[in-house]
Amino acid sequence: MTDRVSVSLDVNGVRYEAAIPPWRTLLEALRETLALTGTKRSCGEGQCGACTVLIDGKAVNSCLYLAVEAQGRKIQTIEGPAEGDAVLEQLRRSFADKGAIQCGFCTPGMVVQARSLLAERPQPSENEIREALVGHLCRCTGYVQIIEAIQDAAARISPPWR
Ligand code: FES
Ligand code: FES
Repeated sequence: MTDRVSVSLDVNGVRYEAAIPPWRTLLEALRETLALTGTKRSCGEGQCGACTVLIDGKAVNSCLYLAVEAQGRKIQTIEGPAEGDAVLEQLRRSFADKGAIQCGFCTPGMVVQARSLLAERPQPSENEIREALVGHLCRCTGYVQIIEAIQDAAARISPPWR
C-alpha cells in the first residue's frame, strides 16, 4: 500500500501533477509541493483567513480543504492567473497605496477574498466589505485601510469583469 496518491491540480490556469499523501491539505500542497508560497499559513484551523484561495470562484480556507478534493476545480491564488487579472492587479496596488499592508501576513487572504467580493458585488458598500472580511484577522492595520483599499480598487476598475 502506498501513502501517496496522484493528483492533478489546476492552479491559476496551470496544470500541476503531483504525488502527495491523501491527507495533505490544499494549503500544504500549494506551499510545499507546488512552491506557491503566496498563500499564507497562520492558524492552520480555519480561524484567520490567511490561507484563503478561490475554488471555482468561491473563497475557501485552504488549510481546511484537502488537495485531493480540489481536483477538477479551478484554484486561484494570490499569484493570480498566468494571463493576468486586472482586478487582482488593482487590488494589489490599492492595498499598497492605502497603507493596507503592514507585516503583510494577512494580505494575500484579504486580497483574494476581496477579488471574490468584487466579482459578485462590483461596487460593494462598506457593510458588504466588512461582512466579506469576517473570518479574516489582521493584527496590524485596524482594518480601516483594508476597507479603504477595497473601496479604492472598486472605484478604479470598470465593470463588466469576470
Ligand atoms: S491558516 Fe487557514 S484559516 Fe488560518
Ligand atoms: S498587515 Fe499584519 S496581519 Fe494584517
